Amino acid sequence: MLSVENLRAGYGETEVLSGISLDVEEGEIVTLVGRNGVGKTTTLRSITGALEPTAGTVRYDGEDVTGLSPVETARRGLALVPEERRVFPGLTVRENLSVGALGGGDSAFRRDVDSVLDTFENLRERQDNRGTDLSGGEQQMLSIARALVCGADVLLLDEPTEGLAPLIVERVADLVEELNEEGITVLLVEQNVAVALDLADRAFLLDQSGIVFEGSPEELRDDEETMDRHLGISL
Ligand SMILES: Nc1ncnc2c1ncn2[C@@H]1O[C@H](COP(=O)(O)OP(=O)(O)OP(=O)(O)O)[C@@H](O)[C@H]1O
Ligand SMILES: [Mg+2]
Repeated sequence: MLSVENLRAGYGETEVLSGISLDVEEGEIVTLVGRNGVGKTTTLRSITGALEPTAGTVRYDGEDVTGLSPVETARRGLALVPEERRVFPGLTVRENLSVGALGGGDSAFRRDVDSVLDTFENLRERQDNRGTDLSGGEQQMLSIARALVCGADVLLLDEPTEGLAPLIVERVADLVEELNEEGITVLLVEQNVAVALDLADRAFLLDQSGIVFEGSPEELRDDEETMDRHLGISL
């Protein structure tokens, strides 16, 4: 469904991604894990067009989408939920969701504001609250909910559990699983490797040199040497 081949990207003279390849099949949850600063966010930004790759290709649904703008990739159903969440502080929850309706396109999973609020009951209760009034977890939920209003065939989630309390991490994980069961494909970037490997069907491990592991979450979890060397942890 989504395939990235030999992607190169960076900032100015600095190359961050020196030819990485990964793929996501329809209906999968695929996770991309790796240490801070190896280029996970850069990968997501290059896929959605926030950053123009210097080489390589991004194919989506049989189409070459390399270098298309974020507006165009969103219209095709690639929905990035960025690390910083980008909730509009001065807008209410409902207004934040309505902004999502302005973008996006003809995704099969496109939802209207009210149907999304049926899924996110905690947001319905707070629909007239401003973005500034929301907790970190609520902002994360809102950011994902807005992507659904925009129409997400593939959700690209950048560290959705970052900074959240354990109980809320669990709720976000449940939500990702629920959306996936409804048919939404997920590419998940996570620092919380335990959560990521629990959720994922397949995993890619990124290091400075590129993708150093591709396989099942179980295989990665059991590979103590790789886990320790590239993530500095064992599970
Ligand atoms: N706008 C930018 N301009 C210049 N360099 C950048 C920019 N954004 C990121 N970088 C650099 O590119 C490298 C990769 O950054 P990126 O944000 O993709 O990493 P990451 O894997 O998402 O890290 P983290 O886990 O901390 O979110 C880092 O060295 C970072 O400092
Ligand atoms: Mg990042």
